[in-house]
Amino acid sequence: MNPESQTDQSSCEQCKARRSFLTKLTLGLSGVIGAIMVLPGAAFILGPVVKKKKEVWRGIGSLDSFKIDDDFSLVTYEDPSPVPWSGVTSKSGAWVRRISDTQFKAFSITCRHLGCPVRWVKGPELFMCPCHGGVYYKDGTVAAGPPPEPLHTMEIRVVKGQVEIKTIPVPLTTTPLKESDV
Ligand code: FES
Repeated sequence: MNPESQTDQSSCEQCKARRSFLTKLTLGLSGVIGAIMVLPGAAFILGPVVKKKKEVWRGIGSLDSFKIDDDFSLVTYEDPSPVPWSGVTSKSGAWVRRISDTQFKAFSITCRHLGCPVRWVKGPELFMCPCHGGVYYKDGTVAAGPPPEPLHTMEIRVVKGQVEIKTIPVPLTTTPLKESDV
């Protein structure tokens, strides 16, 4: 065999090997760069779905400070916000009513429409939202206006004479908003 053609053939083999190596390297690097770009976005979108909601019991006063009657009183507490830099936005509240010695009813003050704080009006026995006219009955169900869901009911327990409320990061609504709602 001609020595020149032998050299050409072997150099061509080297070319193929180099090309194959560079192709694999390019694909590998593209994959790594793509993952670096996509992962933070995916984590941001999927985080709230897969992350377990933080639930914390907060003290809201002694049992004696709540009288048994038909009226709701406002209590405030710190929301177990998922981000430590929430500041004053982590302050939240609930309307609480003592029904019997050990039974309570409590609703989050957060309107299920767009999150304004609702106010208890004793006369007509309604919760009113000042933002878009949302109205709720005393059992938390919607009486009028745009809220798509009842007020969020909160759990209450009594521990050693202290009343505690189970707080979670405030839910607003699970119903998709219509364009006319915003
Ligand atoms: S936020 Fe309450 S009615 Fe819109």
